[in-house]
Amino acid sequence: MYHLDTTRLFVFLVGALALGPACSSPAEEAPGNIGSSAAESAASTAPLVKVDNPYAGARVYVNPDWSAKAAAEPNGSRIANQPTAVWLDRIAAINGTSGARGLVAHLDEAVRQAGGNPLVIQLVIYDLPGRDCAALASNGELGPTEIGRYQHEYIDVIAGILARQAYRNLRIVTIIEPDSLPNLVTNADGQPGATPQCATMKQNGNYITGVGYALHTLNAVGNVYNYVDAGHHAWLGWDSNFNPAIDVMKQAATAAGATVNDVTGFITNTANYSALVEPYFKVTDTVNGSSVRQSKWVDWNYYVDERSFATAFRNGLVSRGGFPSNIGMLIDTSRNGSGGSARPTGPGPMTNVDAYVNGGRIDRRIHAGNWCNQSGAGIGERPRANPASGIDAYVWIKPPGESDGSSTYIPNTEGKGFDRMCDPTYTGNARNGNNMSGALPNAPLSGHWFSQQFQQLMANAFPPL
Ligand code: BGC
Repeated sequence: MYHLDTTRLFVFLVGALALGPACSSPAEEAPGNIGSSAAESAASTAPLVKVDNPYAGARVYVNPDWSAKAAAEPNGSRIANQPTAVWLDRIAAINGTSGARGLVAHLDEAVRQAGGNPLVIQLVIYDLPGRDCAALASNGELGPTEIGRYQHEYIDVIAGILARQAYRNLRIVTIIEPDSLPNLVTNADGQPGATPQCATMKQNGNYITGVGYALHTLNAVGNVYNYVDAGHHAWLGWDSNFNPAIDVMKQAATAAGATVNDVTGFITNTANYSALVEPYFKVTDTVNGSSVRQSKWVDWNYYVDERSFATAFRNGLVSRGGFPSNIGMLIDTSRNGSGGSARPTGPGPMTNVDAYVNGGRIDRRIHAGNWCNQSGAGIGERPRANPASGIDAYVWIKPPGESDGSSTYIPNTEGKGFDRMCDPTYTGNARNGNNMSGALPNAPLSGHWFSQQFQQLMANAFPPL
C-alpha cells in the first residue's frame, strides 16, 4: 500500500457487527475454513471492508486452464504457477467455452486456492459493443448499438455471480475494457489513425455508457475492485492525448450512474510490450544539444517507458480528473521484459539522438506502435504488489502464450477478424508510422495458444527465468 494514511474504506453493513480493523480483509476476519457452515455464517454477517490496495498482503489466483497449457510446454513449469487474468471475452465465456472453465468454476477454484486467506482473482471485462474499433484481431460479438445486451446479458450476469455469498471474501479485481477509452481519444476523429468504427463508437456513446455501467454495477458488489484500462505510454504519452484521455476517463467514470468512487485505479500496458523502465536513457537526456524527444523512436513523446507514464497519469487523474487521491495503478508486465541477446547492456553512442536512443533502448520493437505478437519480446517482471509508489501491482493480464491475432485470415465463430498488424509482411499504417509490423509468423486467432510465442517469451525473459 503506498498511502497508509489514506486508506479508503467502503463499508457495507450486511449485518449488525461492529467494524473490524481498517486494513484487515473480510477473509482475515472469518475464522475457519471458507465453505464450512461456521465460516459461511461469519461471512454473511461480517461487514465488507474494502482495502486500499487489494494486492497488498494477498496471493493472486492461478488460472488452472492457462497453467496447464504453460506446464505442457517444454520448461513451461518455470512460469506455470504465476497468476494470470481470466478474460471474459464474450457472453459464452461466463458459462465456459471449450478448454476454458466458466466464471463460477473459476470463483469456486479461487475460494479453494484462498484457503481462508486473502486472494485476488483478476477478471478482464472485455465485450463492449463495437469492440476493438481501431483493429480487427479482437472485434467482438456485439455490434455498435448492442448496449442493452452488454448491460443485461453480460455485465448484470457477471455481477450477479460475483455477488454470491460464497465469493464475498475474495478480492475481485476487474480490468475494465482494454483499449476502448484510449481509442476514443486518438482513433475516433481527425487524427491520422482514425477509423470509421471508432468514430461510430464515439458518436453513439456506447463505450462511455458501457464502461460507466460496468463500473457502477460491478462496484456495487462490494468486494470488486475496478481498474480501468488506460492504454500505454506510446499511445497517450503526448500532451495532445494525455489530458484528453483523463477527460474521457472522467466522463466514463461519471456515466450511467457511476462516480469516480467506483474506480479503484487504472492499468497501463494491458497486453502490450512497452518497457517498464528504460535503464539507459531518460526523456530529459540530450545529445549534442538535442533532446532525445526528437529521436525517431521517441517522436516527441513526453514518456519513454511505462512506469514513468503510469505515475504521471495517476497524478493527472487525481489533479485534473478529480479521482480519489488514493487510486492505484497496475502495469501489465507479462510480455515487456526485452531480455535475450538483443538487450543492450549500456547507453548508445552520443553521436546523435537516434544512435543514442536506438543503441540503448531495451524495447527492441521496430516501432512503439507495434502490438501484435512481437518478435523478440520476453516475459517481464513477475507479478508482485506495491512495486513502486502509486503502483498497486505488476500483473500478468495478457496470459503469455495467448496470441494477439492471426497472421493470416482464419475463419472463426468468435468475431475475430484478420488485422494486418499481425502479418509479418505488412508494411504498416498511420498508427505505427508505416513501419513493418514486427509480428511473428504462423500465429493463431487472438486468445488461442501460440507455442512458438510462448517459447520465445521465456527465452527472452527479463529478469531471466
Ligand atoms: C482476445 C481474447 C483473449 C485475450 C487474452 C484478446 O486479444 O481477443 O479472446 O481472451 O486476448 O488472450
